[in-house]
Amino acid sequence: MKKFSVVIAGGGSTFTPGIVMMMLDNLERFPLKTLKLYDNDGDRQGILGEALEILLKEQAPDIEFLYTTDPETAFSEVDFCMAHIRVGKYAMREKDEKVPLRHGVFGQETCGPGGIAYGMRSITGMLEIIDYMEKYSPDCWMLNYSNPAAIVAEACRVLRPDSKVLNICDMPVGTLRRMSQIVGKKPEELEVRYFGLNHFGWWTSVKDREGHEYIEQIRDYVSEHGYLTQIEVDTQHTDPSWQETHKKAKDILAVTPEYLPNTYLKYYLYPDYVFEHMKDHPEFTRANEVMEGREKHVFDHARQIIENGSAEGIAFDIDAHATFIVDLARAIAFNTHERMVMIVENNGAIANFPDDAMVEVPCIVGTDGPEALAQGQIPAFQQALMFQQVTVEKLVVEAYVENSYQKMWQALTLSKTVPSAQVAKELLDDLISENGDAWPELH
Ligand code: NAD
Ligand code: G6P
Ligand code: MN
Repeated sequence: MKKFSVVIAGGGSTFTPGIVMMMLDNLERFPLKTLKLYDNDGDRQGILGEALEILLKEQAPDIEFLYTTDPETAFSEVDFCMAHIRVGKYAMREKDEKVPLRHGVFGQETCGPGGIAYGMRSITGMLEIIDYMEKYSPDCWMLNYSNPAAIVAEACRVLRPDSKVLNICDMPVGTLRRMSQIVGKKPEELEVRYFGLNHFGWWTSVKDREGHEYIEQIRDYVSEHGYLTQIEVDTQHTDPSWQETHKKAKDILAVTPEYLPNTYLKYYLYPDYVFEHMKDHPEFTRANEVMEGREKHVFDHARQIIENGSAEGIAFDIDAHATFIVDLARAIAFNTHERMVMIVENNGAIANFPDDAMVEVPCIVGTDGPEALAQGQIPAFQQALMFQQVTVEKLVVEAYVENSYQKMWQALTLSKTVPSAQVAKELLDDLISENGDAWPELH
């Protein structure tokens, strides 16, 4: 079997060791020749790089491994770039979450004003790595997790329409794992129909391969427990704040009982509830929970490996949800035609929604990338919500391209999470000053 060369962009990410461990676990399905880490923060990446170098020497000495901040070294002779950069890192995530609170609005990584602010930063970083990839390995595919995926995907559609970038999210995968636990099946035994935008969608069908429909059974369960499950099958989303989110799915479902909701809809359907929760502890948001939790855990492990000079007895967790990335890489490399939920240009997949919207739908993935499966007509309630939100995402990208203050103000005003044009303007001015040079200049 061909051996592949992979670069992980955002090598210093808290998710890097989990993805590397997952790839080591899948070498028979996806053999690796070379594995490289690339980051523009050499100090941060260096800790994970040094630890993984020790680990790989012990566990997979045949794989050529290196970590670098040099784009040419990183992006030359690679087949896949797995990208998960966070422009502005946790320091800026913290601001995305905390600045809106000053204006009576919740702050979140990908939704509402926080997501919009992060989007304006992310586009620049994403264009940079896409251009490196195309310069040094023109045939390479980028499998991109970097958030906010909806805005990043729209920016790719507008600014890099011919680039081989696939935008993906693990939330549909993680939630499907929960559903599979609810009905007593394996996740790979289930096939879904789903429509929406990234972090803004609904399942309309969950069937096994024999065609048995589980949606009612899951709905009954979710209407009582949300997506909380007996056994943790979705190991990435287990912190207390995530448990709260899984539970809240019960109230989201109550609004549209016919379909199963993505948990992120809580930010759009219950923004006042989210704000009330956040305002009780405005100094400790999700960014702080992650810095004290996952980030500390991952980097402490790495430091321990370096200190011991060996990874023996110090295991990084295998990032189970990240098998999605290997499945996707395999689908492209081996034309497997696997069915996966992805973020793609609509082009009729959702019949009563604009062709040029970036939507999240099931796709068949092969050598030429994803082909969206038709999801038909959607109800007016979801259509209207989605149209409002997709217009916000498009306005953000237009504001970025045109350096337009006006469009950014409109984007924030239109967001269902912001109460008025007045609040939107005050928020915008605050975000501009907090983001400084990380945003393009708006006038
Ligand atoms: P992190 O801050 O730990 O890691 C991000 C890394 O990206 C940092 O090491 C940083 O230095 C690096 N970086 C920033 N800008 C860069 C640039 N221009 N070029 C190269 N490297 C750059 O963050 P994390 O919590 O591990 O998350 C990483 C990313 O993955 C985030 O965007 C997060 O939202 C995303 N994510 C997405 C999904 C999804 O469903 N799509 C799931 C999990 C994580
Ligand atoms: C889910 C979402 C991602 C998001 C992540 C945040 O997996 O799909 O898009 O980045 O959660 O997780 P965190 O643990 O960093 O809050
Ligand atoms: Mn996501």
